[in-house]
Amino acid sequence: MITRRSVLAGAVAAGCAGAARSAAPAPSLADAAAAAGLLYGASIGREALDDPAYADLYRREARIVTTDVALKFDWLRPTPDRYEFGPADAILRAAEANGKLVRGHTLIWNDNAPAWLKRLSGREVERVFDEHIDTVAERYAGRLHSWDVVNEPFWPMDHIAGGWRNGPWFAAMGPAYVERAFRRVAAIDRTAKLTLNEAQCDNDSDWGRAIRPLLRGLVDRLLDAGVPLDAIGLQSHLQPQWPANYGEFAAYAAAFGARGLEVYLTEFDVNDDGFLDDVRARDAAVAATCQSFLTAALSTSAVKMVVNWQLSDRYSWLRDVWRRERPASRRMPRPLPFDAEFSAKPMRDAMLAAFAARKAAGPAPQRKPE
Ligand code: XIL
Repeated sequence: MITRRSVLAGAVAAGCAGAARSAAPAPSLADAAAAAGLLYGASIGREALDDPAYADLYRREARIVTTDVALKFDWLRPTPDRYEFGPADAILRAAEANGKLVRGHTLIWNDNAPAWLKRLSGREVERVFDEHIDTVAERYAGRLHSWDVVNEPFWPMDHIAGGWRNGPWFAAMGPAYVERAFRRVAAIDRTAKLTLNEAQCDNDSDWGRAIRPLLRGLVDRLLDAGVPLDAIGLQSHLQPQWPANYGEFAAYAAAFGARGLEVYLTEFDVNDDGFLDDVRARDAAVAATCQSFLTAALSTSAVKMVVNWQLSDRYSWLRDVWRRERPASRRMPRPLPFDAEFSAKPMRDAMLAAFAARKAAGPAPQRKPE
């Protein structure tokens, strides 16, 4: 028999379960960011479509989602004659049904090329390049907030003159592949913000110091040549085990703004490898790093977006890396604003604080995109 008491007990239990799972007081990250003139979101994959609680977290916290792997060449093109559009289509459908904006990541990247592409001649690679861009850009034209047209053009560890990342596209066309990609997408889809996305610019390791001027030089050349380029994506996978100067990073981002570009922090997370095992201490150190980075970076009005690479530690790519490199370890990376059970962490508070500081300091909130 259903009594008033059992209904109440059920309601309380449901309420508690909800509270334990979400434990994220208002405002949402998306709303706090919007009040500061920023778009906030996270990368997304099949996990969020399969797990309703994770989907709920995106629904509540994110205004924009980035395709994590679904639009990468090797995922879309496992064989030369087939496109696997299913996963990306499903993400777009879910995002649109929930009123979210979508970033496409990424059309052209020299990393992770499938074996069949590596076997082609330079001529054939050029043909695949053009045909791939045409097919994918046409399919999603008008539905994306932005496209990471080219990802990670520089990788000094490949030891190529000019610091370029090696791979099939670069081997076939040299540095010209970058301009060719942007012009080709622009001819098909001029509504998406065309973005050049790069890693490592947030740190002062030899690597970060090498990449920053290379990217700056490339951007200047592209703009001077009239290439359609709207935004720079700075990945912001922070590695606090290396030296960093976030004030300098902010100035670096501002210089792109001075050339009329928007800047997006496209893959933000905080690597906690160098922090203590103790979870409380580690979460506090991640939050502190996050807050000092974002407070500095967001003082630059050119920065218009912050995107985490996934929302929950459970699905962070850094956990995959950790498991691969330290299979015996029971410690797991905690680089994101929500823990593996989707509860809010101190990093989320740090993000809210940085958004609030930007709002208090200033640039007028931008209108929400349609
Ligand atoms: C990562 C994905 O999240 C992983 O699932 C995949 O195994 C490797 O790539 N910089 C990028 C992203 O531009 O595409 C990478 O994403 C993370 C680093």
